[in-house]
Amino acid sequence: MTSNELRKKYIEFFKSKLHTEIKSASLIPENDPSVLFTTAGMHPLIPYLLGEKHPAGKRLVDAQKCIRTGDIEDVGDNRHLTFFEMLGNWSLGDYFKKDAINWSFEFLTDKNVGLGLNPSRLYFTVFKGENGIPRDDEAIKTWQEVLSKNNLPNGVSNDESVHDDIKIIPLGVNDNFWIAGATGPCGGDTEIFYDTRPEEGKLEGKFEDLINNFRVIEIWNNVFMEFNKTIDGKYEKLEKPNVDTGMGLERTITVLNNAETVFETDSFTNAIKKLEEISGKHYQDRKKNFRIIIDHIKTATFILGDDKGITPGNKDQSYVLRKLIRRAVRSMDSICDIKTIFTPEIARVYIEQYKEFYPELERNKEKILEELQKEEIKFKETLDRGIIEFEKIWNEIYDKNKLDAEVVMSGEKAFFLYQSFGFPIEATKDLCLERGIKVDEVGFNEELKKHQESSKIGSEQKFKGGLADTDPQTIKLHTAAHIMLQALRMVLGDNVFQKGANITSERLRFDFSHPEKMTQEQIAKVEEIVNKQIKRNLPVTMEEMTVENAEKQGAMGVFKDKYGELVKVYTIGDFSKEICGGPHVGNTSELGNFKIQKEESSSAGVRRIKAILE
Ligand code: SER
Repeated sequence: MTSNELRKKYIEFFKSKLHTEIKSASLIPENDPSVLFTTAGMHPLIPYLLGEKHPAGKRLVDAQKCIRTGDIEDVGDNRHLTFFEMLGNWSLGDYFKKDAINWSFEFLTDKNVGLGLNPSRLYFTVFKGENGIPRDDEAIKTWQEVLSKNNLPNGVSNDESVHDDIKIIPLGVNDNFWIAGATGPCGGDTEIFYDTRPEEGKLEGKFEDLINNFRVIEIWNNVFMEFNKTIDGKYEKLEKPNVDTGMGLERTITVLNNAETVFETDSFTNAIKKLEEISGKHYQDRKKNFRIIIDHIKTATFILGDDKGITPGNKDQSYVLRKLIRRAVRSMDSICDIKTIFTPEIARVYIEQYKEFYPELERNKEKILEELQKEEIKFKETLDRGIIEFEKIWNEIYDKNKLDAEVVMSGEKAFFLYQSFGFPIEATKDLCLERGIKVDEVGFNEELKKHQESSKIGSEQKFKGGLADTDPQTIKLHTAAHIMLQALRMVLGDNVFQKGANITSERLRFDFSHPEKMTQEQIAKVEEIVNKQIKRNLPVTMEEMTVENAEKQGAMGVFKDKYGELVKVYTIGDFSKEICGGPHVGNTSELGNFKIQKEESSSAGVRRIKAILE
């Protein structure tokens, strides 16, 4: 079965169950600045899963373009991809577990309307119950009924392993409970696994081990969104539960065709053929490089082909796009010495392959080809120049250290290449690896940080400790910032740290680490906590002590390394303790009413709050 056939079959099947087909949403999220790309089928549907009415109705089916670049360094092994399609059927407060499970089974096993998989090769995990949420007995019972109706064994495991007649395996929250972020709609799920190597004999053993050695592979996840997780960690029953399913198209097609890896399926075979033609090399001999190239150019093609008009650059999605193209070019560089431009040629293959289902690729064809060409030329120039400089350094260190068992390129030298010639650290790493020496990456990152800090100093000098001036209102906002940091940590967790502050008499601006957009409820909760502390009339006191002592007392410290031996520690009642240069108000009663005006993304993993005192 080809990818196009699988996609079509899936959509047709659910249309026959009265689902409406919806188009894939853009790869660039509409209203969610907390992530750069659409990462799952459910992502663009979040508002509807939270209860908003979807114009196409309560039963939807789609194939959604997704990008995940978190594992970009792993691409090249036998399964990681940065672009994939997710097939999904959706119930927005309509059908629930019974229909979802029955249809899943029918689609997977029926020879005419479905995939015709042998049901004896299928296994089902369900939520075993944890964290005060009971075991999903309804899902278990439904699977048992479906299986016995089809004359199949239907045993339920009680030890997370498979033996005898076991087909249903209850597992804990880490495996069978799904939530999109820290709070929001969530629920147990049932995941469907396929036995990839029945020729090895009866399936037996801990399910986790069977997953880890790829004896079974998950092909479909059905999430039963029954709860809304609140800020206090409570699970409230949703008024109307939803079904959110996700079937990775590339992975399923691999399984269906008994292919060794996803790269041996029609998702990639044409691109590989083209690359073999251009490079004169064989995929079999250079698998890792081939995989990086064809994966990255595919993802770049889809980003450029999206109507949102992203082009390579130095920020956000543009930066990811640039990185993908550059990694592909570098990978090509290490397998062959071609001078011709190749990235648009690979992109053409993908455009042809996908344009019928994703017509935006055809619409944006010229742009895709042009931007790839431009970026490739630009980067090749950078590489050529950088390689000359690398050789110089290499000769230097190699000569000096010839006899050492372990030769290391210093962080400074690697940073010099990066800073002065734009030569990526990854390229330095690759070249060093080829020559059997190591790069001091920690040292490189330190250099990078030093540089970033010193270039920031210029712009921040006027803000002493983040303060623009010592106007009374500025000082009040400064104290409010301390209370807010503690409140943020209470609401969002201990991973929140201050990343920067800039306070004027009008407002405080505060950057902090947190991976996603705060919800309205979280913002309200933080405001509530801050105002409560203000009303407690807490005294603000200061004490000088050594950094070590401050740490011992549990003071929060930002940019600790910038402080001298003795530091000031400001304490606000029993609520907050921070290393800080001050100044602050004497008592929280001076502050007034605290209000968050804006919460937005500042950079990857960093959020920015603007707040005032009224
Ligand atoms: N939300 C689930 C997932 O991404 C099912 O679609 O796996």
